[in-house]
Amino acid sequence: MEIRDFAERILQSDSLAEKLRPLDGPATDRIPGPPQRFPLPARPANLKFAGRKEAPAMPAPTAFRDPAKRAVAHHIMANHELQALEVMAFTLCAFPDAPTEFRHGMLPIMADEQRHTRMHAQRLEEFGMTFGDLPVNGYFWLKAQDFQSPLDYLAGLPLTFEAGNLDHTIEFEQAYDSAGDKKGAGIMRAIHQDEIGHVAFGIHWLRAMKPADQTDWDAYIDHLHWPLRPEKAKGKAFQRQPRLDAGLTDEFIDQIQHAGRDDLR
Ligand SMILES: [Fe+2]
Ligand SMILES: [Fe+2]
Repeated sequence: MEIRDFAERILQSDSLAEKLRPLDGPATDRIPGPPQRFPLPARPANLKFAGRKEAPAMPAPTAFRDPAKRAVAHHIMANHELQALEVMAFTLCAFPDAPTEFRHGMLPIMADEQRHTRMHAQRLEEFGMTFGDLPVNGYFWLKAQDFQSPLDYLAGLPLTFEAGNLDHTIEFEQAYDSAGDKKGAGIMRAIHQDEIGHVAFGIHWLRAMKPADQTDWDAYIDHLHWPLRPEKAKGKAFQRQPRLDAGLTDEFIDQIQHAGRDDLR
């Protein structure tokens, strides 16, 4: 299957099952097509983006004793996973001239995002809910509209949102675990492991695409568009080891860890 056709199926199908359908057969990139920026992904009616105020807020970890709150968290995270998939498909269509190795490298990550979406959606069913029962926001998608190059994508998605998720996944694993919800904790642990590889993809390609005399950090900062900023690349409890495992340097990790503290002055 052509990579472009796979990306367009994700962006143009309003069936969740179609959007989450794996690539048909081996991928080819013979016809990457013209650059095209999709302003919105097609979605089923019950998953169309609502305003940020309409979509429920993420429950606090202390609220996870309540099964209804744990279900809301799965619903919100299923939408995050689906948006990651859609942003990746957006990137493939917007930047057909990116190296074909980069484009092929996105595919196993997209398969992970499809699986992550299904994991949350299936767990939701066990709480008596369906993905689409609650309003969802389009925050990640909207931020991706500012990407003007594959480097912008790398800074914004893998090195900010997915890097931040290295912390969030551990926080939520602990929240589910404290509530005695082993299944929820297991889902978060599995996603955490995959996310390390997604961040590794981000730093690998940032290094490959940036000018040779520019540092990782300067390239990252150059390609982040406000309101994205380094302090968005972390959660409440900072995890150093998974960032090292992803191949980030100690210097880069220190910069992220200390980012935003000046804002308090
Ligand atoms: Fe994911
Ligand atoms: Fe990811």
